[in-house]
Amino acid sequence: MIKKIFSGVQPTGNLHLGNYIGAIKNFVNLQNEKNNFCIYCVVDLHAITVKQNPNQLKRNIRETTAAFIASGLDYKKSIIFNQSLVPAHSEGSWILSCIARMGWLNRMTQFKEKAGKDKEKASVGLYIYPILMAADILLYDATHVPVGEDQKQHLELSRDIANKFNIDFNSPNFLVPPEPLIQKSFSRIMSLKDGNKKMSKSDPSDLSRINLSDSIDQISNKIKKAKTDTKPLPDNEDELSSRPEAENLLGIYSSLNDQPIDKTINEFSGKNFSNFKEKLASLVVEKISPISSEINKLLKNESFIDKVLIEGAEKADKIATEKIKNIKKIIGF
Ligand code: TYM
Repeated sequence: MIKKIFSGVQPTGNLHLGNYIGAIKNFVNLQNEKNNFCIYCVVDLHAITVKQNPNQLKRNIRETTAAFIASGLDYKKSIIFNQSLVPAHSEGSWILSCIARMGWLNRMTQFKEKAGKDKEKASVGLYIYPILMAADILLYDATHVPVGEDQKQHLELSRDIANKFNIDFNSPNFLVPPEPLIQKSFSRIMSLKDGNKKMSKSDPSDLSRINLSDSIDQISNKIKKAKTDTKPLPDNEDELSSRPEAENLLGIYSSLNDQPIDKTINEFSGKNFSNFKEKLASLVVEKISPISSEINKLLKNESFIDKVLIEGAEKADKIATEKIKNIKKIIGF
């Protein structure tokens, strides 16, 4: 059976190791598996849920696209496009916002985190953003959605919206409830400064994350300064639950080396952090630096990036417009 894969990344700058390990690396693996039809979207409509500088936004859209390509996505195998070029996303989002219930949105933990203390000042777009995400997925009948752990609740909402639409309009199986593809390990990469906090673009401390655009020196320095505890590295997996920083660094190493965490534990058990950090820094440099230099090379050729996005959008638009046409028919327009 063909798997239809859809996923998106916001072009809000500072793409980091969490985005790479939790999402983009997985996008590439899925693209290269047989029988997968993959669509990867630079979700610029999502980005404007918080204030953006127009010139910077344009740059970030290109940079995220460049990061996709530099990480191994191939625009000839996968559809790569930016969301605002396909009007069906906005249209679908409005229609689905009449299906979703306030109570469902009120439960979204990411809104609570992102809106912070002053919810009254958050944009309405930030509140209804999971509905736009549902539209993204449902317009393409995506069966599988690779994401990091933080998007799990949004995917459950997409499933609820699809099911309610199908029931309300007596159209069984018309919208396809998507399956999340969340890796068992490494789906939540944590801050280098606090093993209990997610690595995030919005963390004010740049030392908390490795950006895909970091230089070799920056990467080495950030890993050297990463928070650890005082004990030697553990000799068993059970100990990791009480040692979040060790768990995170060992997880990063395992994921980038494509090996299970117990193998990494065996490799470093009983050693001190400074020895492990040296190895980790050279592995991160080995895996990330070629991506960052490729991103910089691609960014010099803006017309190539724009062409990838426009051609991708043409293909995406055909699929999404057809779905919207059918949605409208079903709801009686
Ligand atoms: P965004 O742009 O915040 O993040 C992009 C992807 O990176 C993953 N991620 C992480 N994974 C592991 N550890 C971390 N510290 C970490 N930080 C981010 C995210 O889980 C995500 O997979 N709403 C989405 C974008 C979106 C989308 C979609 C995704 C819009 N429409 C449709 C899938 C399908 C978002 O804001 O991701």
